[in-house]
Amino acid sequence: MLTAQNETINALDLTWVRSQFPALAQSVNEQPAVFLDGPGGTQVPQRVIDAISDYLKLDNANTAGAYATSRRTDSIIAGARSAMADFLNCDPDEVVFGPNMTALTFAISRSIGRELGPGDEIVLTHLDHDANISPWRALEERGVTIRMVEIHEDDCTLDMNDLAREVTDRTKLVAVGYASNAVGTINDVRKIIRLAHEHGAMAYIDAVHYAPHGPIDVRALDCDFLVCSTYKFFGPHMGVLYGKREHLKRLEPYKVRANTNAIPNRWEWGTLNHECIAGITACVHYLADLGRRVNPSASTRRAALLAAYEAIQKHERELMELLIRGLVAIPGLKLYGISDPKRFDQRCPTLAVRIKGRTPLELATRLGERGFFTWDGNYYALNLTERLDVEKDGGFLRIGLAHYNTAEEVERFLVALREIAV
Ligand SMILES: Cc1ncc(COP(=O)(O)O)c(C=O)c1O
Repeated sequence: MLTAQNETINALDLTWVRSQFPALAQSVNEQPAVFLDGPGGTQVPQRVIDAISDYLKLDNANTAGAYATSRRTDSIIAGARSAMADFLNCDPDEVVFGPNMTALTFAISRSIGRELGPGDEIVLTHLDHDANISPWRALEERGVTIRMVEIHEDDCTLDMNDLAREVTDRTKLVAVGYASNAVGTINDVRKIIRLAHEHGAMAYIDAVHYAPHGPIDVRALDCDFLVCSTYKFFGPHMGVLYGKREHLKRLEPYKVRANTNAIPNRWEWGTLNHECIAGITACVHYLADLGRRVNPSASTRRAALLAAYEAIQKHERELMELLIRGLVAIPGLKLYGISDPKRFDQRCPTLAVRIKGRTPLELATRLGERGFFTWDGNYYALNLTERLDVEKDGGFLRIGLAHYNTAEEVERFLVALREIAV
């Protein structure tokens, strides 16, 4: 494979990858556990577990104290900010840590809402997770109008013509997902951000589902905000927000008086989860190490991360092709979202299916008994399950591949699902 710099990169060394994740060695009812639940949260490499426990063992303190453990805590947080800045391609002072994406989004929506009122509009989509809908809908109580962008039901993609109609000079913000956590669609966020800016609106990107599958470049996207959650890309349970420096400085957060006014800390309230922040650096280092293994000439951490994602995307694509080929051959199975292999670069390896005569819960339970971890329900993509009229019947069965899955796991999964389906 050739990188953007025309360097050959090696394929993923799956033995090495899997050896990093102790959880993958588990079994259920004497069957090896197969983790197809990544969209709900991925497993973590040993180094993330070590970083969290080492922090608690050696560095545990609050910030800004005049003694060793507190100084080390400050430096650990600074290190994690700089790791996430490389991950997102921004500056460390544009990286805000929080408990999760949902809490960070409510914080930003409340602050943006201070400046909005009747006549102002926010554009959302039916494809999004509710965490990128309800925090904005909450501003309706200030008189803000919400406009919802339609989807094409046949392939679960955004209706870009409708989006172009909904965004007008009254629009103050467009909030959209980078990729759907339910059906895997990757949205053309670059185009959406450009459209928002043409109308003087801000663009808020939910990259939670995209982050384990593709590289993020907030500078190239030119988004105003972008949020992700480290527990979806091999790190601890935390959320991370990128905000353009000008917005983080200008917008007014709700915060305690003693909290600094400097960015990014004015957006971080109370004491953060320091041990998990230590784990975030370790998770970025895992990905960078993976990148250096596939491209030993990657000279910076950012270059190593890009190499890692190039190899991840290639591996996930192969697994996804195998999985979709097998799924569509199962009698009575309906796959939601893009199914044409020529368009697979527009989707993540996250597959929503239903099987005639079986509820998603029944399928997930029977798969779970055999060691296959999948999800059933709406995964909070409530607008989508309602729009597709599956909410009343248990939503979908979601099969989510991550780069640590193997072709052999996919083949065994297909055999099990075929048996359960009949
Ligand atoms: C696409 C998407 N957005 C937002 C969220 C919410 O993330 P968090 O759990 O960090 O609040 C999720 C969680 O599943 C998600 O998949």
